[in-house]
Amino acid sequence: MIRLDKLLADAGAGSRSQVKEYIRKGRITVNGQVCKKPEQKVSEEGDLVCLDGQTVEYARCRYYMLHKPRGVITATEDPREKTVLDLLKGVNTAHISPVGRLDKDTEGLLLLTNDGELAHRLLAPRNHVDKCYLVRTEKPLSPADLRTLEEGVDIGDEKPTMPSRACLNEAGDLLLTIQEGRYHQVKRMLQAVDNRVLYLKRLSFGSLRLPEDLKAGEFRPLTAKEQESLRNDVAG
Ligand code: URA
Repeated sequence: MIRLDKLLADAGAGSRSQVKEYIRKGRITVNGQVCKKPEQKVSEEGDLVCLDGQTVEYARCRYYMLHKPRGVITATEDPREKTVLDLLKGVNTAHISPVGRLDKDTEGLLLLTNDGELAHRLLAPRNHVDKCYLVRTEKPLSPADLRTLEEGVDIGDEKPTMPSRACLNEAGDLLLTIQEGRYHQVKRMLQAVDNRVLYLKRLSFGSLRLPEDLKAGEFRPLTAKEQESLRNDVAG
């Protein structure tokens, strides 16, 4: 059971003070009865809460996919820079964090959630969750470079990188699929084969694909099916 004002704020109905105002004005019903007490305890599962007659969808865990644009940092707050959370307009971002990080100059698919447990499992290298990147390189890559990237390279850490998949698309850009998420990993892997990343975009994260119609800077909640697939990515 949680307080009515907290449930409403967590569901994104408004800030804590806004939802208290809605309650005071009689705009909230619980199981069809107007409730004017913000401290009223309600059940997330059993009670039907409505704002102006519309059901308030309450989910304890919330998941969003963002097409991160370049120039925005993967952080929850920053005194100077625009963060990925600043892009989740209209969303109650309390306890929402990015799952892993993309560099400021990287764009593409970023998952954000308040489900810390799933986030942790998705990031653990032992769970082998694929992340596919489109990489534009300074110089063309040879078949030997691709083999080296696939086998694992020394990027200056204790251990070489885990095996990856590397191939070129028709435009000659690299499609690199890795299962780890070390700091600047893709850039450092390309440095290890004496090359340099000019442009980097994450196309997928586990079973999630960046939809073509999700423009840079846009986001949307994950569907129930996508949430289920992500759980399956780390099951067993
Ligand atoms: N690897 C990098 O080097 N940068 C990113 O943003 C993601 C993976």
